[in-house]
Amino acid sequence: MSLYQSVRIGSYTTSGNIFLAPVAGYSDAAYRSVCVDAGCDLAYSEMVSSEALIRDSAKTEVLLQRAANETEYAVQLFGAKPEVMAEAARLVEERWQPSVIDINCGCPVPKIIRSGAGSALMRDLPRLAAIVEAMSQAVSTPVTVKIRLGWDESSINYLQAAELAVAAGAKAVTLHARTRHQAYSGTADRAAFFRLAAAVPVPVFASGDLFSPQAALAILGGESEAEKNGPRPAAVMLARGAMGNPFLFTRIKAVLQGLPEPEISSLVKLAAAQRHFELSLQFYDERTACVEFRKQACSYLKGVSHGAELRNRAVHCNTPADYADFFAHWQDQAAAAADGTDSAT
Ligand SMILES: Cc1cc2nc3c(=O)[nH]c(=O)nc-3n(C[C@H](O)[C@H](O)[C@H](O)COP(=O)(O)O)c2cc1C
Repeated sequence: MSLYQSVRIGSYTTSGNIFLAPVAGYSDAAYRSVCVDAGCDLAYSEMVSSEALIRDSAKTEVLLQRAANETEYAVQLFGAKPEVMAEAARLVEERWQPSVIDINCGCPVPKIIRSGAGSALMRDLPRLAAIVEAMSQAVSTPVTVKIRLGWDESSINYLQAAELAVAAGAKAVTLHARTRHQAYSGTADRAAFFRLAAAVPVPVFASGDLFSPQAALAILGGESEAEKNGPRPAAVMLARGAMGNPFLFTRIKAVLQGLPEPEISSLVKLAAAQRHFELSLQFYDERTACVEFRKQACSYLKGVSHGAELRNRAVHCNTPADYADFFAHWQDQAAAAADGTDSAT
């Protein structure tokens, strides 16, 4: 049986089980759109402040826009006050009709933690449960949580956090299998995904070190006999692995379906980056789109021939005309690499 499968999250069923993680500063409508084109089944917005949302901040609204090909998406909220999170969820449901509303219980940034939100909730499980309960009562959209292993290695409590969240109404649990203390370093504890899948009656989504089709296969299919025969995560969630690399969705989907892994040429990469930039111009004013796209362009250039030189061009782009020059230059380099006239390859 194919490992590529739909997932039931409360009343909502996804098309498949390869998701895009919420990634602050990246997971906007333009990026989510290119990921959906590449095969992403459910894309999460970056984390949105519940406090800012109920004050109707224009900046927050930008984060919630969605692209034409995004018929479904998940919105992630952060906050520490159950009543504010519930009110924000109500607003999001009414105005944006997402398929899922997720609660951030993992952000390690000090400012967020000081406010009692993000991974601070891993140290205050009664509050985490109160937030889930208030939101679940406020909306009919399925409410989910994204947690970490715990605060640090001496306070691993993801099983307890997930059980309380599910009892309070959470319809799925994403585990980023690192502690708050680890932030994004070290390796994710993949065994924890299987322990969690065995412990809760809702789908578990795996986040952490999803950098290759093989990693996705090992999580969705299991590696050891015990993993293969026991409860397994229902979906994988890509974060750093998909930055400038939306084709990771395409490759994972093929491998899960038992098909050969497609080769992604440098010209296909270039076309995706150009599309991504065009979409950014639709969602932001020109200046913001040009400045914001610099980091995205650099992500696409990882592993590209003459990447350092192209990156240097990208970080100096200020206008759409600058980007047109940049893309033309990249195309020349890609063509030279393809016909063997490139001295760097
Ligand atoms: C720059 C950056 C921003 C992130 N922003 C968010 C966020 O807004 N909400 C969230 O739940 N996780 C956020 N994460 C965590 C990712 O969703 C993911 O759980 C984590 O990066 C582990 O996956 P990876 O090892 O495959 O990158 C962020 C990670 C990075 C690197």
